[in-house]
Amino acid sequence: MNRRQFLATTAAAPLLAEARHPGIFKFTLGTPEQITPVSTRRYAPVSTDSLPGISTAPVTPKGRISKRGYLVTLPLAPNELVYGLGLQLQSFIQRGLKKKLRVNADPKVDSGDSHAPVPFYVTTRGYGVLIDTARYATFYCGNKKRKGIPDEAGSRTGDGFVSPVGLPAAYNRYNFNQPSEVLIEIPEAQGVDVYIFAGPSLREAVQRYNLFSGSGPIPPRWGLGMWYRASQDFTQDEVLKLSAEFRQRRIPCDVIGLEPKWQTHAYSCSYVWSDRFPDPAAMVENLAADHYRLNLWEHAFTHPSSPIYKDLLAHSGDYEVWGGVVPDFLQPEAREIFADFHEKTHVALGVSGYKLDECDNSDFTGNWSFPEFSAFPSGADGEQMHSLFGLRYQDTIQSIFEKRKQPTYGLVRSSGALAAPYPYVLYSDLYDHAEFIKGIAKSGFSGILWTPELRDAKNEEDLIRRLQSVALSPMALINGWYIRNPPWKQIERAANNKDQIDPYWEQLESRCREVMNLRMRLVPYIHSAFIRYHRDGLPPFRALVMDYPQDPQTWTIDDQYMMGDNIIVAPVVAGQHERSVYLPEGDWHDYWTGYRHSGRIQVRAPLERIPIFVRGGTILPLADITLHTDDPASWNLTAMIYSDGAATGTLYEEDGTEVRYTWDGGNFRGAGKRYVITDRKLMRG
Ligand code: GAL
Repeated sequence: MNRRQFLATTAAAPLLAEARHPGIFKFTLGTPEQITPVSTRRYAPVSTDSLPGISTAPVTPKGRISKRGYLVTLPLAPNELVYGLGLQLQSFIQRGLKKKLRVNADPKVDSGDSHAPVPFYVTTRGYGVLIDTARYATFYCGNKKRKGIPDEAGSRTGDGFVSPVGLPAAYNRYNFNQPSEVLIEIPEAQGVDVYIFAGPSLREAVQRYNLFSGSGPIPPRWGLGMWYRASQDFTQDEVLKLSAEFRQRRIPCDVIGLEPKWQTHAYSCSYVWSDRFPDPAAMVENLAADHYRLNLWEHAFTHPSSPIYKDLLAHSGDYEVWGGVVPDFLQPEAREIFADFHEKTHVALGVSGYKLDECDNSDFTGNWSFPEFSAFPSGADGEQMHSLFGLRYQDTIQSIFEKRKQPTYGLVRSSGALAAPYPYVLYSDLYDHAEFIKGIAKSGFSGILWTPELRDAKNEEDLIRRLQSVALSPMALINGWYIRNPPWKQIERAANNKDQIDPYWEQLESRCREVMNLRMRLVPYIHSAFIRYHRDGLPPFRALVMDYPQDPQTWTIDDQYMMGDNIIVAPVVAGQHERSVYLPEGDWHDYWTGYRHSGRIQVRAPLERIPIFVRGGTILPLADITLHTDDPASWNLTAMIYSDGAATGTLYEEDGTEVRYTWDGGNFRGAGKRYVITDRKLMRG
């Protein structure tokens, strides 16, 4: 089932075997740099045979050397919309904007700074473009105009800002309805490889890009259950107490995470258990007996007290971060030293994975991390290393789990180009719920996964609304790193840390439990969507425009998203009691009531219900509610039929065996050895 091949080292990846990748075109412009995302990749491309073969490139890039580096130009047609460029939390359509793709934690303005900038974009003309660079490239997406080129007749206003066809006035941007260009300025470089991914629509262009990246990951089922990161101040006993309390109070949880203070030194890191955790092996065993996995926080900057510090010295950059060395993850030596130690001291004990923090950079929050002019033994400078650091850090940790043939799922705070294969989910300290929701839709353009994690909250409504978005995202994460008690016991951070438990906390707990139970019911469906990601490169969470590129209504929608092929989620933020929802083509059913809807609708959103719509004709498999995915009952499925007539459903099992269910004139027929249909309900509109 696993389609993926690992590349043995960071040696240059094999060139594209054109026959295996119809529809992907490589253009070498000038003399490309040696260190790029493609040349340092870990995963080989997988076949794109399942997509329609296209023999001519939909666009041709042009390039030229300038005094400042290298300049690439690609054409844009009138009203051609551009999406992608990685985790751009503050904008959706990129046409009309200038973005400098610079790795940065906590970007404050819409400048292109991002935890995960990705030099890949797709357009509504149905193709994608990857600029294979580790430089902070600047993309001018159709917002500049060369002197002396006449406008097309009758379309330009005085200042050049016009309302694009089909889009609201808020999208008045420069020359939207004129032919234009994407201009990409790459500092330092004398050339670059440009990869063009054909469609026919932007959906297939994204699929091709993801397959070229090595295809999507299949997280273990436990990775898709609930996650809870315990307070960083907790001791071993407190962690065990919390996990026991979750079971006793019937709070679903598959993974417990530890935050910085599990180590003797955390900024920078020692990777050694502190005396808060006197017997980590016993703790892991204890947790495992209760069906919990353990995930460890860390970052890569290595403290002098760490046992691997000395070995890393010769394989690290020339600047320190927080008093630690920066391993050169482009070198096999550094990766091996780092991975070996992690394997022996954590993974061998049963640790299931990591949260790889602080691997971005900071121009906005304290200016930590190494400078752009740093030098690394691999030959990379600091700018290139920043662009690749999150990726190659994931490689290093992945090598442990791949060697052990052990699936993992974890978190990472920075990623970049060709990231699809990594079972790591991005997160941020920015805590804007509306932006966090949009991150779910946008990440699907760029081969990355994103969680809108929950911490504390402004009020109960905020807590529940945030938890709902979390429950319908790639990772259902509650990050309690700075609160002693689960947020439903006390939502306010200072009071929570003083153990001032809300007198009515059990009511709030039970409302939160309902939301977590919803997640547990959806694990098989979400898992199935990930298997499709692995097979076909189709992201499990994505913007509506990816499925309905011909429908102009979808072009601006970033506050709703597709979850798998048959569900549209339309999250609600605190203070909102109803919202407008757009349902493209065909009938959709309210998940909660079964009522049939179509087109643009206004929906009421009572607090206990996040708006969810199921495509008409769908058989939706819902698991029994369990406390964790090891429970055999989590394999029991109820088939919910959202249809007034025929309905079909497809479910992929963990190992990829496909089980099809058909709804046939009133006779529901289910098949499959491992699935028990425990109940059968017909929901009618
Ligand atoms: C931040 C991270 C938080 C938490 C914290 C611990 O960088 O985003 O989730 O882990 O570090 O110091």
